[in-house]
Amino acid sequence: MLRPGALPQSDCGPHQLLVETRYLSLDPYMLRALSGQGRRRFAVGAPMRGRVIGQVIQSSVEQFPIGSLVLGEAPWQTRSVLDPAGLQIITGEDEHEIAAHLGVLGTPGITAWLGMRHLARPLADKTVLVSSAAGAVGGLAGQIAKLSGAHVTGIAGGAEKVGYVTQTLGLDACLDRHDPDFLAQLDGLRPVDIYFDNVGGRTLDRILARMATDAKILICGQIEQYSPNSPPPITNFHYVLERRLQIIGFGVSQIGARQAAARSDLKTWLKHGRIAARTNFVDGLENAAETLFKLLEGAHAGKTVVRV
Ligand SMILES: NC(=O)c1ccc[n+]([C@@H]2O[C@H](COP(=O)([O-])OP(=O)(O)OC[C@H]3O[C@@H](n4cnc5c(N)ncnc54)[C@H](OP(=O)(O)O)[C@@H]3O)[C@@H](O)[C@H]2O)c1
Repeated sequence: MLRPGALPQSDCGPHQLLVETRYLSLDPYMLRALSGQGRRRFAVGAPMRGRVIGQVIQSSVEQFPIGSLVLGEAPWQTRSVLDPAGLQIITGEDEHEIAAHLGVLGTPGITAWLGMRHLARPLADKTVLVSSAAGAVGGLAGQIAKLSGAHVTGIAGGAEKVGYVTQTLGLDACLDRHDPDFLAQLDGLRPVDIYFDNVGGRTLDRILARMATDAKILICGQIEQYSPNSPPPITNFHYVLERRLQIIGFGVSQIGARQAAARSDLKTWLKHGRIAARTNFVDGLENAAETLFKLLEGAHAGKTVVRV
């Protein structure tokens, strides 16, 4: 359970910054970490933490003047004393450009780029399937595959998101995972060359049987497995052998020296209107916990941030 607490008293030391929080990033891994799974775990009684954008209000560090906007890992607090190591200065003309550093120009965009532009290639004329295709990562992964000449089908939850994926993001088709025939629709897909998997679980299990020979599955996330009521185990693993499938798990931390190329591509595509990236703003730190749980219920398309 998440509950509000009093702001701890902390003084800003000589090489520290006092930062007023502006935006919090909400991310699926947080639910996994809250339920004690995965590499990152939140300690009971400690403040929630995550990617945050804030404004420096007290500083004795020359490179981080008062008024500058910074991005980094921080507690979910209205203000925090932070070490400048690990923070980066960001800029933006307006709120959408600033919050883009948590979305299309941040972890979701770079993850999508790494998966599609680097690991999945070549993509031209390939049949690509993306789950959570209306989401922060999936929405960009699908569009990057389209830009690279693939035929791309998405999977999303509900008619509105299906419309967003095909009309706004421009994917060729989109299946609705809430449709009673969803699993049967997966069985009817043409053989998939590249599956960009954000959800794992029963969806992955069913898609294993639809993969083409020598196809690739990029494991980006496993949302279906993040709740305590995870779905049953994979039963179709034998297709990995029979169809010579490559399963590639990857993480954004692998981006390394490619980060500059990823950011440059994403910025250029955004500037020229070749990709769309929606940000949903939810007001109030007090609403962050509820909004995080709603994220996994599929409440919003695009990236969701809390405006503090
Ligand atoms: N590998 C990495 O370095 C890396 C980095 C960032 C994120 N990720 C992973 O990438 C995935 C997407 O992250 P994101 O930030 O872009 O989140 P997101 O896709 O914007 O948000 C989560 C979405 O997941 C879908 N969903 C929720 N429960 C589901 C279920 N049981 N079955 C199928 N779909 C379900 C919902 O969309 P619909 O209702 O539309 O299906 C929901 O909107 C997550 O698994 C995340 O952990 C990995």
